[in-house]
Amino acid sequence: MTYNDSFIRACRKQDIDRLPVWYMRQAGRYDPDYQKIKENYSLLEICRQPELAAEVTLMPVRKLGVDAAILYSDIMNPVASIGIDFDIVKNIGPVIDNPIRTAADVERLRPIDVEGDLSHVLETIRILDRELDVPLITFAGAPFTIASYLIEGRPSKSYIRTKTMMYSEPELWHSLMRKLGDMVATYLRKHIENGGKAFQLFDSWVGALSPADFRTYVLPTIRYIFDELRDLDVPKIYFPGVSSGELLPELNGLPVDVIGLDWRVSINEGRRRLGGNYAVQGNMDPYVLTGPSELIHQHAKRIIDEGLQQPGYIFNLGHGLFPEASIDKLKELTDYVHEYSAQVLQQRTTSK
Ligand code: CP3
Repeated sequence: MTYNDSFIRACRKQDIDRLPVWYMRQAGRYDPDYQKIKENYSLLEICRQPELAAEVTLMPVRKLGVDAAILYSDIMNPVASIGIDFDIVKNIGPVIDNPIRTAADVERLRPIDVEGDLSHVLETIRILDRELDVPLITFAGAPFTIASYLIEGRPSKSYIRTKTMMYSEPELWHSLMRKLGDMVATYLRKHIENGGKAFQLFDSWVGALSPADFRTYVLPTIRYIFDELRDLDVPKIYFPGVSSGELLPELNGLPVDVIGLDWRVSINEGRRRLGGNYAVQGNMDPYVLTGPSELIHQHAKRIIDEGLQQPGYIFNLGHGLFPEASIDKLKELTDYVHEYSAQVLQQRTTSK
């Protein structure tokens, strides 16, 4: 078994023979075999069975031929350990019966106990470390995105209660951010100590903020998390989520290797806004996959051509896969990214 490290190499802007590709939400509902497992177990029940969670993580790697695995888990899982009861409700998402609204609610939150409460996650990572021949990406939700669920109590479009706390009680907001920042940093460190080979911080909804508010209310905690984890010798990815193009210039200087882009900015424009310092990952609109193969290839080609202009590019979607995605089209896209990028890179070496 040869280990395929193209994903790690691309994160580090090193030479590759073909582009690495993986998909956010690649373990999931578009796969009939996953749906069968879901008939018997909920997401949380799968996560609590390390052998099964590892199997679900491996499914898309085997089926699609992607160059990285992403741990099967959810951004909400660690919050159970700091004292928040939640459920993941079908077709809704994370739901919390007693949302965090007051200073007393924030004070009550405990420090995370990863070994005590989340040993199943660490066991899943150890199993995967033995079985995988591609790197395992582990992940956490970023404080703003997690806070949006904790404060709203369910998915929201306006984030009105989240913003109410942020604007009306900034001290309370910052103390919540700091507690979630500590939770995330401790949790991710354990992932890497147990065999994770890279990690991604998902800030899916932070694009709801203006650049100035992002700088004031969120960025200090993001910086704190990555500073805490600076000594870990693995690629670190920050994904500022959907509609985050205007936030990209704010990220300059963050001690990470890779920034994830959504589809609203091109790869070239994203790199320009980031100051050219980071490897980038993304950014096809997932719903392009609803179109015919030829159109999918056209979109992928345009993205790949820009991606390959500089070292440090990883093919991905601009956000997570959706349940209706076709597994055949995903496989075809994966093959296309590999074949087309190998061709371009090969031509480059022969014309040198
Ligand atoms: O393949 C992978 O990406 C790994 C597994 C993974 C899940 N959630 C499993 C899951 C990952 C990386 C996540 C991250 C996550 N969870 C994010 C950040 C990524 C993003 O999409 O922005 C967010 C915001 C959540 C919160 C969450 N969990 C939501 C909003 C939902 C409902 C989604 C929906 O459309 O129904 C979930 C549930 C969830 N997490 C599912 C999966 C596979 C779907 C339901 C299920 O299969 O039980």
